[in-house]
Amino acid sequence: SPRASAGDAAQWPTVVAHRGASAYAPENTLASIDKAARLGFQWVENDVQRTKDGELVVIHDDSLKRTTDVAKVFPDRAPWKVKDFTAAEIARLDAGSWFGAAFTGTRVPTLTQYMREVEHNHQSLLLEIKNPELYPGIEQQTLKVLGNEGWLDQSHLDSRLIVQSFSADSIRIVHDLSPGIRTGFLGTPSVSALHEYAAFTDLINPSYGSISTSYVSAVHGFTGPHGTPMEVYAWTVDDAPTAWKVAGYGVDGIITNKPDVVRSALNGF
Ligand code: G3P
Ligand code: CA
Repeated sequence: SPRASAGDAAQWPTVVAHRGASAYAPENTLASIDKAARLGFQWVENDVQRTKDGELVVIHDDSLKRTTDVAKVFPDRAPWKVKDFTAAEIARLDAGSWFGAAFTGTRVPTLTQYMREVEHNHQSLLLEIKNPELYPGIEQQTLKVLGNEGWLDQSHLDSRLIVQSFSADSIRIVHDLSPGIRTGFLGTPSVSALHEYAAFTDLINPSYGSISTSYVSAVHGFTGPHGTPMEVYAWTVDDAPTAWKVAGYGVDGIITNKPDVVRSALNGF
């Protein structure tokens, strides 16, 4: 069974497999994190949303259409929103065949199933609370699953978990409920606003096209809620020249669908 290489976490910058190794296996599935582990990658990113009956599931879009066969199984239920389907209905869907015939039978994982595989693989998780405005209370519910799975102990908090969102409100809620968790804000706040973010977020995770060396230095000049310099993980970088450019800005992490491409580009950087 897949195991991430122990050495990966020590390398700079941290390379995070976006939605798993999603260039090579269907995004946000156990297959995509297993692929990342087989390639030797410690860190994986995912997206968490909620079903009609309150189960947390790992999927990126607010609709099931792009990454499952829902339109075939439930033809009359357009636009196939995640929040309008029960966990049992979603469990029937194929989340792999759209990507390739070899992945037929792959399922949309529940957050619990996903956490167990991440743990089994000895991986670390950049967990995104996706579209929190659609799912009131999802922060508390996510923390409950993390706690049940043993992910709120000190060793996981220290080095294996970051919770991020495009919603500053959502990140603030996570920080208030569970101050030991490292958090990340997805976006590029103005430098003059960074001091406000430093109260509740440890990382600023921007689209790589929106940053520069001076922006990354500005973020590094602030101390986050855990008393360490704020960090920058940039997304989504899938080719060598862009990896060189973005690493040159001094980022701490690079989020990529092709972790092997980014890592080999940066070897000896
Ligand atoms: O982790 C960064 C990235 O996932 C943010 O964008 O749309 O892929 O969730 P998106
Ligand atoms: Ca994401």
